[in-house]
Amino acid sequence: MINIIELKNVSFSAQDRNVIQSVSASFNTGKTTALVGPSGSGKSTVLKLAGGLLVPTEGEVLYRGNNVALMNRNENLQFRCDSAFVFQDSALWANQNLDQILELPLKIHFPEMKKKDRAQKIKSLTELVGYKKELNIRPSRLSMGEQKLIGFARALLCSPTLLYLDEWVESLDENAADRLIGIVKKMQKDGVTVLFVCHDMRIIKILADYIMIIIDGQIVIHDTKENIMNDTELSNYLKTGLAL
Ligand SMILES: Nc1ncnc2c1ncn2[C@@H]1O[C@H](COP(=O)(O)OP(=O)(O)OP(=O)(O)O)[C@@H](O)[C@H]1O
Ligand SMILES: [Mg+2]
Repeated sequence: MINIIELKNVSFSAQDRNVIQSVSASFNTGKTTALVGPSGSGKSTVLKLAGGLLVPTEGEVLYRGNNVALMNRNENLQFRCDSAFVFQDSALWANQNLDQILELPLKIHFPEMKKKDRAQKIKSLTELVGYKKELNIRPSRLSMGEQKLIGFARALLCSPTLLYLDEWVESLDENAADRLIGIVKKMQKDGVTVLFVCHDMRIIKILADYIMIIIDGQIVIHDTKENIMNDTELSNYLKTGLAL
């Protein structure tokens, strides 16, 4: 299967507003796509639609050829286990401690796993992302950057084959960002498909195979990074027009 995710004429409306208008796109297995565009253009919404977290008002989202909206419970659980999301706002449960937040995906997807193995996995992943504080505290005690690290560790828990990253480095210092970039690079080598939203051209150059430009709820360009970078007009537009 070449396309792991496919959007077919997908629209999304909410509160009488057309947020996404008839978008079609395919994402190749094992490849990385950077979604770019101005604020409010619909990047997070496209990412959530492609991840099955939002249901399209019209059109279809296919995961390995199966319509996500028509999946049965088991197929849906498998899709959820295969894919992982780092949210723009981190989306950590406000009323749970970090260790509880991180235990939850393991409890759902690996119910047989022993508590001490869960704790070990959580420890190794929080160390991997460079999180240094204790885990028995609420997210409100963390900075935005630290919340991102926990959100990133959570995304790695179930060894996803499909990774969705929404503005995942924006609140991190360069060292912390480089650490996460290194993790993503390793996952790319292991064949993980990555869709990420990012405003940092440096990171797009390092990680992306494809670039998708979204403006006013529509995909205006979706092409290889090389083709876009070699097009002077487009690459200037990326640098200046989108203030990347
Ligand atoms: N559920 C909703 N109801 C109403 N409007 C929505 C909804 N979801 C998104 N929108 C609107 O659609 C537009 C696109 O939102 P989205 O979050 O996808 O943009 P974005 O490109 O990720 O922006 P940013 O770069 O600021 O994160 C915004 O104007 C937003 O307010
Ligand atoms: Mg967004």
